[in-house]
Amino acid sequence: MRCVAWRAMVVAATLLRLCSSRELEPKSFRPDMIMKLPGQPPVSFQQFSGYITVDQLHRRALFYYFAEAEVDPSTKPLVLWLNGGPGCSSVGVGAFSENGPFRPKGAVLVRNEYSWNKEANMLYLETPAGVGFSYSSDSSYYEGVNDQMTATDNLVFLQRWFTKFPQYEGRDLYIAGESYAGHYVPQLAQLMVESDDKQRVFNLKGIALGNPVLEFSTDFNSRAEFFWSHGLISDSTYRIFTSACNYSRYVSEYYRGSLSSVCQRVMSQVTRETSRFVDKYDVTLDVCISSVLSQSMVLSPQQVTERVDVCVEDETVRYLNRRDVQSALHAHLDGGTKWTVCSSVLEYELLNLEVPTISVVGSLVKSGIPVLVYSGDQDSVIPLTGSRTLVQRLANELGLKTTVPYRVWFEGEQVGGWTQVYSDVLSFATVRGASHEAPFSQPERSLVLFRAFLQGRPLPETFTYAP
Ligand SMILES: *[C@@H]1O[C@H](CO)[C@@H](O)[C@H](O)[C@H]1NC(C)=O
Repeated sequence: MRCVAWRAMVVAATLLRLCSSRELEPKSFRPDMIMKLPGQPPVSFQQFSGYITVDQLHRRALFYYFAEAEVDPSTKPLVLWLNGGPGCSSVGVGAFSENGPFRPKGAVLVRNEYSWNKEANMLYLETPAGVGFSYSSDSSYYEGVNDQMTATDNLVFLQRWFTKFPQYEGRDLYIAGESYAGHYVPQLAQLMVESDDKQRVFNLKGIALGNPVLEFSTDFNSRAEFFWSHGLISDSTYRIFTSACNYSRYVSEYYRGSLSSVCQRVMSQVTRETSRFVDKYDVTLDVCISSVLSQSMVLSPQQVTERVDVCVEDETVRYLNRRDVQSALHAHLDGGTKWTVCSSVLEYELLNLEVPTISVVGSLVKSGIPVLVYSGDQDSVIPLTGSRTLVQRLANELGLKTTVPYRVWFEGEQVGGWTQVYSDVLSFATVRGASHEAPFSQPERSLVLFRAFLQGRPLPETFTYAP
């Protein structure tokens, strides 16, 4: 039954009994309860959002959005979801475009049938400060934020979030994320494993990493072959992109402000051939023209019938910038600023990109934490081939044995992708037809993947026929 506690609070204590399972909840998080998001259809689960101060002295606070599980939240695990960037929003991208319960469409929110809160209590965090609604009152914090600062704030956030939601302390906890969260997630997990609060508070049961940056050169240099094999670049361009200047060298020079003329030449040839009208995060999906040509909204009529809304990011920007939405979310922005998908104030230490985190993943595996690396197979930014190589290499280094040989997995009647599992603890899976943001472009397959991950089971091996 839909809990009407928010009304009851102001009416009479007796009414609270209507929500029997809620009676014991402390009052402290009530101010963070979301009554209803503008345009939201009625739902049976509760939502919360607000700030957790991570540094009192410098008044730095991180914003979260929490969607409890649709059914029986008290028996379901807690999952922290992090998007990457560095500097992009887990609320805007993760919750409202990928695996959250709603997606904005015009003035309303529509239900996401494959929301991950069918399986878990989903916590979305905008991190580090400077991203989305998260802020630091001392703006000097934004200059030179690095992985270590982010991981520390994330840990403090969770510790304090648990004091607001003590019923989740010690609950089975998973951390999932994508892209640059290939840094954030293992680094935070590592801090948890080392923390004194391990078990009592942080009952970490596994991590999942989607199209993650794990090792700079392997990940970035798999782009050339992906472009070439998908017909985005010619044979001759492939040759120079793998000999004269490879992508890791280009990025490395670029972030050091020392771009060589050879790399400049190679990249301009690559960029010309791949075209800006192809989404590098999904080379087969049509682009949202309004995102590409930000000013001229040339939406082609055919796109209306697209199965996935490729313009969902624009919809999210519009939605999260509404005053009524911000007020319902208990969010605020510094005067005049806009909510953006990726931070415009943060100056992240970009050379942290080159710090490998695959070794951190290795130490987590060694301490018995299950790890899933999954990959939307249409992504050219962090292609599946690089991730597969890295996982295979790690399994060899740790002396793990293949427990599930490379094989297809099914979602219903169709192949959802390929998977391989090592010593029942380290898994790799592709999501067929999925982008960098797998739950956005393949929500149904991604939910099957997520369910198997939480259950600690291999992905479905057999075809299920449902006429
Ligand atoms: C990329 O280029 C760098 C610098 O030239 C080189 O050291 C590295 O081996 C190259 N990597 C690949 C995969 O070609």
